[in-house]
Amino acid sequence: MKNIILIGFMGSGKTTAGKLLAEKLSMHFIDTDDLIEQIAQKKISDIFKENGEAHFRDMESKIIDTLSGYDKFVIATGGGIVLRPENVTKLKAIGQLVLLSAKPDVIYDRVKGNKDRPLLHADPMAKIKDILGKRNPIYRAAADIEVDTSKLSVAQVVDMIMSLDIMP
Ligand code: S3P
Repeated sequence: MKNIILIGFMGSGKTTAGKLLAEKLSMHFIDTDDLIEQIAQKKISDIFKENGEAHFRDMESKIIDTLSGYDKFVIATGGGIVLRPENVTKLKAIGQLVLLSAKPDVIYDRVKGNKDRPLLHADPMAKIKDILGKRNPIYRAAADIEVDTSKLSVAQVVDMIMSLDIMP
């Protein structure tokens, strides 16, 4: 196994848990959203506003193509990365996909006040329930394993992932 790839909805803790996991396992950490922001030289919310979601999704797919040589990375992904089946296929080829899940009210608490999630700008609770309902089957089909983070601290999420039978 080469890499650990964290998938899941916004606010499921992919970035926070991913950084700690990488530190504990002496692996590298990257976040596909950060890579996109670096390349675009603008924030995700501005990419959505100025170029549209489809452009963002194209950038997301291109980023995945650059990851094929990566080894011993914890990779945190954007919540919508699983929407294109070819993205999932490419990610599965380079590592194990760990789904971090959380209940809608927990997600709401974690993301409220954060302005850089364009998909949740208006009526966030309704959006969370709606998008999560549509995506949950896709996340679960893509994942090798699921960790429900709803009642766990970041440290507990990391311990849980480290106890799984997927470690490099
Ligand atoms: C998105 C999730 C975001 C970011 C973009 C779209 C989504 O990443 O990629 O706002 O479609 O769920 P996080 O899951 O890291 O917030």
